[in-house]
Amino acid sequence: MSKSFYVTTPIYYVNDAPHIGHAYTTVLADILTRFHKLAGQETFFLTGTDEHGQKVQQAAQKNGVDPQTHCDTYSLRFREVWQGLNIGYDHFIRTTDKAHIEFVKARLMDLWNRGHVYAQDYEGWYSTSEERFFSEKELVDGKDPIGGRPVEFLREKNYFFRMSAFQQKLIDHIESHPDFILPDFRRNEVLGFLRQPLNDLCISRPKSRLNWGVELPFDNEYVAYVWVDALLNYASAVSGRSWSTGEALWPADFHLIGKDILTTHAVYWPTLLMGMDLPLPKHLLAHGWWLIDNAKMSKTTGNVVSPLALKEKYGVDAFRYFLAREMVVGQDASFTEDAFVARINFDLANDLGNGLSRILKLGVTGLGGKLRKAASETPEDQDLARIAGDTVTQVLQKVAELKLSQAVEDALQLARAVNRYLEQNMPWKLAKAGEAGLIRLNTVLYHAAEALRLAFALLLPVMPGKMKDALGALGLSVGGPLVFGAGEYANPLAETLHLFPRIEIAPKPAGEAKGNAKPAPVDPFAAVDLRVARITEVNPHPGADSLYVVQLDLGGETRTVCAGLRKHLQPEQLLGQQGIVVANLKPAQLRGVESRGMLLAADNGQGGLNLVTAAAAKPGDRVEAEGLPASPKDQITLKEFERAPLHVRQGVVSYGDKPLQVSGHKLAVSAPEGSEVR
Ligand code: MSP
Repeated sequence: MSKSFYVTTPIYYVNDAPHIGHAYTTVLADILTRFHKLAGQETFFLTGTDEHGQKVQQAAQKNGVDPQTHCDTYSLRFREVWQGLNIGYDHFIRTTDKAHIEFVKARLMDLWNRGHVYAQDYEGWYSTSEERFFSEKELVDGKDPIGGRPVEFLREKNYFFRMSAFQQKLIDHIESHPDFILPDFRRNEVLGFLRQPLNDLCISRPKSRLNWGVELPFDNEYVAYVWVDALLNYASAVSGRSWSTGEALWPADFHLIGKDILTTHAVYWPTLLMGMDLPLPKHLLAHGWWLIDNAKMSKTTGNVVSPLALKEKYGVDAFRYFLAREMVVGQDASFTEDAFVARINFDLANDLGNGLSRILKLGVTGLGGKLRKAASETPEDQDLARIAGDTVTQVLQKVAELKLSQAVEDALQLARAVNRYLEQNMPWKLAKAGEAGLIRLNTVLYHAAEALRLAFALLLPVMPGKMKDALGALGLSVGGPLVFGAGEYANPLAETLHLFPRIEIAPKPAGEAKGNAKPAPVDPFAAVDLRVARITEVNPHPGADSLYVVQLDLGGETRTVCAGLRKHLQPEQLLGQQGIVVANLKPAQLRGVESRGMLLAADNGQGGLNLVTAAAAKPGDRVEAEGLPASPKDQITLKEFERAPLHVRQGVVSYGDKPLQVSGHKLAVSAPEGSEVR
């Protein structure tokens, strides 16, 4: 990570109420900023509102108010929503700010003086909603190719920025800075676009058509094209500001944007900066779209999820967690209330909350609420300390690589490791085992608390409120070193804290249509806990010639499983592979060996079996069915597992028509269509 971190969100149009799309980028910027602060860096986080242009002028007219009043009302709505989402921006810019307007004028004058702007008569198809011209060729069915809305033919004098003159320089920059545009495929998209000759950019709008904008300093009959005005916010907001080292804040480290505004940020903005001889931002990160019921959100279809409504219902921290965990930065993600509730119940209430409840309960009853520092005594203690230390490194590394969803998942894995550790060490039994038991109880609870402290501290940027409460319940304040064993348990443990109360899911009434605000359906697959497991040992079963006794690593937890693969696969075909295990299958004695789970394999159509593998995932990762919220039971019987039959569909293990996936990858297997998987 660099020493300082200046991050921006797009500035949002004030003709729309804040929605989950806006909330996502802003929460992402906030979380990244908090992580960089955690790593000891100086940070600056900019957001704001884009207030000029035709859309705003029209929205104001529609509301019967003057544009400035309209902007004041809407801009405030954004600030209120950000406050409710615990967004700690350093500056909120409005393009109607006087200082910004002056900055835009000065930069445009500079471009003009440098000879990068010229006037020309222009004609083309103008789209009011996109606020730009399209050529005849670009139109789709006579409508604008982006929003599909009507266009009108216009001929007028306008001012143009010589964008084409910077085409090669931009290509060279993108090629010599591979991390300028992220993710990679977006960079390739931009390079692809730049293979065509670049047009010059029309940067003016005649006042006769639009007067709600920044007047051009070289022609008072015109205002600036709203995108030029808007992009300049990133530099104007920090003009004159510097870090404590004395270095200027500009250029920004990261512009976070949605994929739909990539061209403006990756082509218009850098070429404008080149024209003004200003440094380019270091990175642009284009994230995907939030889809609702797999459709693009739109005001017209009315499926826009109000962040405020969901925040009120489930709490701000859970909402931030869901956004951070559910979207793999760069990819689209699907928002459903069911998936949100599932994350609250399984990740937050169960994985994160259970360990804490146990520590508090046993710490208060067994140790009088006082935890003392304790050295590791057993290999399990050492393992937990090691996993915790490794997790800190991994999480910070993944955040630096912008793999936020994975970073969050890693912190959750640590919480799961704590739960397993508690199960292995059974502190509830130690509490009843006299003096020696109490000493060991302290060691176990101390180890569990230290590991959880680190998980909470790593999740603090994501859930600042709840994680502060969680640390408080352990008698800790925020900000301790991210090192196992460095926790200062000076204060007593709290009696109890239900960090994330479980949300009861009412069964869906029969025949009710699938919808966003409806409770989750009860589904046999949802009860199944499928996990990635690395095969670390394969031995023949001593008492059954069709079985192997296989050792599995589930990410910190080792297990023995009996697998009926001996007639089909050699040990070396299994060793080192990452299979999928039914992790919550009730343990069974198979000819004297206890089997704790079952490895999945598919019929290969020739009487044999192929192991289902997930090479790209990590041991312990959970396999999910696309669009189906998981709610695994603690244990299921084989019969219950069989109620959710799995088959191969187009080379992917599927539950009905739902492909299974893990860590964003579909669970592929080589087997004929329709083969059974079990
Ligand atoms: N005003 C311009 C940005 C100017 S920045 C110099 C703008 N504003 S916007 O309000 O329409 O959109 C802002 C951002 O919200 C964009 O990054 C856009 O991608 C994002 N989103 C809008 N809907 C979205 C989703 N459904 N999902 C994720 N983000 C989406 O564009």
